[in-house]
Amino acid sequence: MTDAVQESLAEGVVLVGSGGILGRAWLDLLKRLNIGYAAYNHRDLDITCQGSLDAMIPPGTRVVINTAAYTDVDGAEGEEEEAYQVNCTAVGHLGRRCQSVGCTLIHYSTDYVFAGTAMEPYQVDAPLQPVNAYGRTKAAGERVLRETGCDHLLIRTSWLYAPWGSNFVLRMLQLMQQRDSLRVVDDQRGRPASAVHLAQVSLDLYRTGARDTWHVTDAGDCTWYEFAIEILQQTQQTCRIDPCPSAEFPRPATRPHYSVLDLSQTENFLKPLAFWKTNLAEVLRQI
Ligand SMILES: NC(=O)c1ccc[n+]([C@@H]2O[C@H](COP(=O)([O-])OP(=O)(O)OC[C@H]3O[C@@H](n4cnc5c(N)ncnc54)[C@H](OP(=O)(O)O)[C@@H]3O)[C@@H](O)[C@H]2O)c1
Repeated sequence: MTDAVQESLAEGVVLVGSGGILGRAWLDLLKRLNIGYAAYNHRDLDITCQGSLDAMIPPGTRVVINTAAYTDVDGAEGEEEEAYQVNCTAVGHLGRRCQSVGCTLIHYSTDYVFAGTAMEPYQVDAPLQPVNAYGRTKAAGERVLRETGCDHLLIRTSWLYAPWGSNFVLRMLQLMQQRDSLRVVDDQRGRPASAVHLAQVSLDLYRTGARDTWHVTDAGDCTWYEFAIEILQQTQQTCRIDPCPSAEFPRPATRPHYSVLDLSQTENFLKPLAFWKTNLAEVLRQI
């Protein structure tokens, strides 16, 4: 038995997908709080393999945190079945295993389960109408999670960024250094979510007894163009940035034009969430 598994038996926390943007934020949080855990990245554990999952979630586990997912939004258009296996079928395996050992499953979904045609923030119980393959697989994952009947905390989030991994903030910083000018889409509006902040708020929700479906992002909303301008200003760079329509950058997957998640349930239950410009400043400080 590995050290990691012994720790999980002692403390009962199993983190799945620890190599991803959010997985790493969770890993740092668990270490900082001295919470014993067993963490598995994709190399250690393929969540589509039910037998391996069962072995990694032993009796005595209290909570499983699933940050693993197929997240390539454009790739999913040509690989919907592969995305479905990770984002839906494997979530069913996880939920049934959690149900059988009697533990809670913390799982993540996306703003892309919504159509993006709304004029006001999407409430937690708004109808799911994904406009792309990735969104369809994540919406199916939400349904299958509920069907397993396991105790769960399902958190929808959006526009994740962190000092690590592949994300908009790091991509913009790189492009701003390489180019004199950039064009950034200004007709998609959403809420950025700092992965570090998301992990902390997820833990707060879990510890306060929140279950079923919640929305967690940074507070405030913006377009990708407004996000880029703020990165530019906070880092005092000189690159010129102009707004443009999504049509200027055709992509395989359609993106929702408005995918702002309503945060009122979470803010009423916990406290007001930190504003995106504040969280961005903290992430830029860490880079
Ligand atoms: N990123 C966003 O903007 C965003 C927005 C809304 C919601 N979300 C949701 O938030 C959660 C975390 O996303 P993230 O941005 O942290 O994703 P990420 O950085 O892409 O990390 C996902 C991790 O899952 C791993 N993985 C993929 N297939 C797996 C499998 N079959 N078994 C085990 N691990 C597997 C990946 O490994 P490989 O890299 O080796 O494939 C990767 O390490 C996901 O549920 C995602 O859908 C993300």
